[in-house]
Amino acid sequence: MGLSKKPYKGTRDFFPTDKRIRDYLFSKMTEAAHLFGYEPYDGPMIEEVALYSAKSGEELINDQIYSFTDRGERFVAIRPEMTPTVARMVAQIHKEEAKPIRWYSIPNLMRYERPQRGRLREHWQYNCDIFGAPVGRGELEIIQLAIQLFKNLGANSDQFEIRLNDRRIVDSTFKKFLGLNDQEALQLYKIVDKSKKIGPEALEKELSKMGFVAEKRQIFDSYLKLDSFEGIAQFIKNNNLQEEAEGLLYFIEQTKQLGLDKYLVYDPTIVRGLDYYTGLVFEIFDKHPDNRRALCGGGAYADLLKIFNEKPLHGVGFGLGDVTLRDFLEIHNLLPDLKVQENDLFLAAMDDTGLDGALKLAGTLRDNGVRVLTHLEPVKFKKIFPLAEKKGARFVGILGEQEVKDQNIQIKDLETKDQTTHSWSEIEEITKLLKL
Ligand code: HAM
Repeated sequence: MGLSKKPYKGTRDFFPTDKRIRDYLFSKMTEAAHLFGYEPYDGPMIEEVALYSAKSGEELINDQIYSFTDRGERFVAIRPEMTPTVARMVAQIHKEEAKPIRWYSIPNLMRYERPQRGRLREHWQYNCDIFGAPVGRGELEIIQLAIQLFKNLGANSDQFEIRLNDRRIVDSTFKKFLGLNDQEALQLYKIVDKSKKIGPEALEKELSKMGFVAEKRQIFDSYLKLDSFEGIAQFIKNNNLQEEAEGLLYFIEQTKQLGLDKYLVYDPTIVRGLDYYTGLVFEIFDKHPDNRRALCGGGAYADLLKIFNEKPLHGVGFGLGDVTLRDFLEIHNLLPDLKVQENDLFLAAMDDTGLDGALKLAGTLRDNGVRVLTHLEPVKFKKIFPLAEKKGARFVGILGEQEVKDQNIQIKDLETKDQTTHSWSEIEEITKLLKL
């Protein structure tokens, strides 16, 4: 029996069209990051598991991580996320760096998940993080950057929304009013995080396990029913949470001034599944009814550097996956046609002499930056144009014995159907035409 040709479960082979699409997404991500002055970084594929057990949360460690013991008895994992790595790297250099530190990367990550639409075991994730910015301002910039990416991809506020919450408010609600300790609060975060996915019955079961009595249950229910910024503002007032809400209220005010409020909605179920978030948290959702899923998740984390025995340094960032982003662009018809690779010239030869000439001319044109595809054997005239089209060439040049003798070439523009003849010595003119 032969081996399977399929890739490992939940991973993808990137055939040229898929790779072109991925490259396109990466180029847009890079472009958006550079518009805000973010610098690229990268880290290793493998980290010690301890880096994730410190602050990433039980679900990631117990269910999703690819871990193993290496030959030197170190317990290691293939990176399931980038935030602990970036924090570890920033911990090494932050004292010497001018703040804020603005970094981005696009690593591939592995999580042992059940593959389904939008969820795979390997994905690439655009990470943008800012460290040491004043609280509130870093959050604002990070949201602006995420919005910029979507704008640059041609998307608008009818197509995506940013669902916001703030862990400072949720934390107080859980601890002050529901009387939960740190551990119980984390447990309730997990329940709230999946509340929409599991449905009301399962939610009820999970909540009854927490054992809330009537009055606490009422507070929790009134929290979970909030569905607008006005609602949360009233909740803050009613429950005397002004101090905890300062950050969120400032943020909302600023986004209004910048005209970004049209992208934002308040959502009490956004608390994020990872344990390190301490402030503003958000997820970007596709608004298309057939693809209502998270495209991006992020937030503020104040204490991550503490795990390296460093002083706290305010961090804010997000991760945005390539799988869901591609689904989003496809469902909204925003992906350019990348089925074939663009080439400038398909240079075909009718005979062996033409082929010698084609190879020579192709070399000179490439020196001038023209993307030339040569067919590496003589080809019949009627096959030339279909081949050129398949290979994505805008222009076709044909050489035979006569053209080589005359040192001439006829070039046809497949778009306008114009045909022109040029001497090989007019390289600049030919280049200008082909680089249209
Ligand atoms: P996350 O919410 O776990 O956050 O992931 C962020 C995004 O990565 C998700 O919204 C989704 O688009 C994509 N993603 C995650 N898991 C998968 C998967 N199995 N298959 C496909 N796509 C996936 C984080 O990872 C945080 N570390 C982000 C962050 C950066 N926070 C601050 N800075």
